[in-house]
Amino acid sequence: MKPSGTLVPADYLGSVVLADLELQPPRKPRLPPEIVVVPVGPDKILFEGAKRTQVLSGTSSRTLLFSVLEQLDGTRSWEEIAAAVPKASFTDVSTIITLLFSCGLLEDGVSPPPPDELRDLDSFFGRFVDVTRNNRNRGEAMARLYRAPVVTAGSAGAAEMIAVQLSEASAAPRFVDDADGDLAGAPLLIAVATEEREDLAPIIAAARRSGVPALHVRIGRNEVQIGPLFIAGQTACYDCFRALHDLPPGDADPLRAPMWLSLAALQAMHLISRTADVRLGAGFESYENTRHGTIHHLRHVARLPGCPTCGIAGPPIDPDSPAMLAWLYHNSVGMPPREIGSRRVHQRHYLAQNIEETKRPADPYHGATVTPLPSADFANGSGLRLETIAALLRHAAGFQEVEGEPRRIAPTGGGMGSPELFVIVRAMDGLRPGIHHYHAPRHVLEWLYEPAAADISAALGAASWDWPCTIVGAGALRKLHSKYANFAYRLVNLDAGIALHILGDLASRSGLAMAEATDAHDEALAQLIRVPRKDNRYVITFALGVGVATATTRRFTKLGARILDVLVDQSNLAERPAPPAARRAAAPWNAAALLTRRSQRTYAEQAVPRSTIQTLAIAARDAGAPLRQWWLVRLGSRELPPGIYEFDGDDLLRRGAAPELDDLRRCLNQTGLAAAPAILFFTANLAAALRARGARGYRETLLQAGAACASVLLTAESLGVGACPTAGIVEYGFRRITGCDGYHDCPMIGVTLGYSPEE
Ligand SMILES: Cc1cc2nc3c(=O)[nH]c(=O)nc-3n(C[C@H](O)[C@H](O)[C@H](O)COP(=O)(O)O)c2cc1C
Ligand SMILES: [Zn+2]
Repeated sequence: MKPSGTLVPADYLGSVVLADLELQPPRKPRLPPEIVVVPVGPDKILFEGAKRTQVLSGTSSRTLLFSVLEQLDGTRSWEEIAAAVPKASFTDVSTIITLLFSCGLLEDGVSPPPPDELRDLDSFFGRFVDVTRNNRNRGEAMARLYRAPVVTAGSAGAAEMIAVQLSEASAAPRFVDDADGDLAGAPLLIAVATEEREDLAPIIAAARRSGVPALHVRIGRNEVQIGPLFIAGQTACYDCFRALHDLPPGDADPLRAPMWLSLAALQAMHLISRTADVRLGAGFESYENTRHGTIHHLRHVARLPGCPTCGIAGPPIDPDSPAMLAWLYHNSVGMPPREIGSRRVHQRHYLAQNIEETKRPADPYHGATVTPLPSADFANGSGLRLETIAALLRHAAGFQEVEGEPRRIAPTGGGMGSPELFVIVRAMDGLRPGIHHYHAPRHVLEWLYEPAAADISAALGAASWDWPCTIVGAGALRKLHSKYANFAYRLVNLDAGIALHILGDLASRSGLAMAEATDAHDEALAQLIRVPRKDNRYVITFALGVGVATATTRRFTKLGARILDVLVDQSNLAERPAPPAARRAAAPWNAAALLTRRSQRTYAEQAVPRSTIQTLAIAARDAGAPLRQWWLVRLGSRELPPGIYEFDGDDLLRRGAAPELDDLRRCLNQTGLAAAPAILFFTANLAAALRARGARGYRETLLQAGAACASVLLTAESLGVGACPTAGIVEYGFRRITGCDGYHDCPMIGVTLGYSPEE
């Protein structure tokens, strides 16, 4: 069956959805009676009335589907449904249920009938509970809203209008006059201003003191702001919002104000009933009247450095600087705290279109001259030879065959394989000088052309770039954007860090020297390698020069007039020393780990021994990035009792009390991963990175975090420990138990660790 457009085999969907701990299909499925089901043509069925129109089509018999649909009244278990439809097997039934569930068409169980006057609202909840999945059914959503003692404050007339609407939606709003009013027990405060002179700061501060979330609503002459939602400790405070944004001048237009107030009331209703994706925790909706009509934007807010309320020390960031841009971006794509998040986000993995996109191989460069690569193991390559480069490319961005299917060797966010690699050859046996693209599905290099040496150097940000071979990483940003929206940029750079670590690790083990071109000029480099930059299809992620160590040793003492150029070059390049032999020995390593590693997402209730954690921590340290390691140990041992530890480079230091499962669930957006016995988080000093390198510092930090993460993943595999990288960090949850401020210690990536439940 085919949900509107892209074809995904329903049996595939069924099995993967059932295996995913994050998704709990309804135990007693109910197709909301409000949803209209219409047969279309010979083999299609249309569902109308939920979040979007869905058309299922395909070979599976329509009569079977209809017979199952008739049973979905919320009173029957899956077994009972199967028993009631003799021609359907249990598998048929579970396939149909998971398909309907993934299309957002089911509730769980029946809810008590609503009072007559709330019938419409009840129906509305029934049709839309699946938008967030925070409620199992309409009854749960209704229970949150029914008689909810929500508080309004600010411009009295406007507050009254909002209150009337909320009352009609079954809530029990009350108005408070001033900041001394009693807010206790309110699920939400709505602070509304329709007059410019109205100052909402005191009441929002009072809400903060009482631990009540506050929704900011301001209607000016030509601009309306709905949001942000302020929650103490979790979101930006009012001062930070004001430091970033002006309030709209003027008083509300009385003709239009009711419309905006209705919109605000609707947001409030969704916030309380938790029936919509709330993005107001990190921003606000701005509606501006312009000559071209009303223009709508989401504007971002973030906790700001230097704000005592938000608990970030240090000097403020210049609001117009690239550093602020990076900080706002980082916050805009963070996972919201559990209190306001949606359980539905994870479901994007199962959208038909995303499954297709994940499987789609990268395009070849048609017409390019192709060099087939030896599919040699890493062990066969050493020195700067085609075999070595082939092994580097394959392990960092290529495939191996697993059960007859090509599988990417290196882990990548969402399995989407964002890293693409290019090789710039200056002088190397077996490879023509010029730019080559690694086409991973065919394991070949595609030769594009030979640029001038000066252009290569200029693009790599060096007066003369003399590495014989340079591997350039480009991230498929557009591809990931279709699934992850703006979060894609974070993932692309984390993925690149993993690829870079594998390249670097293998290169050093092959006796190759290397250096990152840390000041490569992205735009020039993209042009040089001819990667499409239009619409951010690809972004440059790194450039790594590799070669033979002895050949590239520089004799600085012999320099004459070029001394200045070389000095500039040297300060541009971060040489990566090969890890000292002694350190390398500490972490067991074998090439096979690269090939056998798989992400493991379920864990036995078994502690990871201290010695193992210590070894993993050392491996992460030796990746060489300036990151802090936080070990959240839920299951401990005598050697390492449960607790929060920091690895200081040598030892595990206790930094906090034993985390409960619930604490960890607040740190990660996947409950399965949160149940790991030990979880490692890397934090970076974003303050320092942004100060030193502006927006680029952000990207470099992600790259470093990805690299450190790869080091842990490979070492874990060598040690027989299961691991899964996770970018699904809920920052507030992490700050809450570690005391990190999220800026000087900004969580970049996590690794969950433990043992397989079967063993
Ligand atoms: C940067 C990065 C972030 C990831 N984040 C998550 C995550 O949040 N949750 C998860 O279950 N897996 C996550 N993964 C694991 C990938 O889904 C996994 O690596 C990919 O599907 C390939 O499967 P494999 O690791 O078994 O080869 C992440 C991987 C990377 C590289
Ligand atoms: Zn603040």
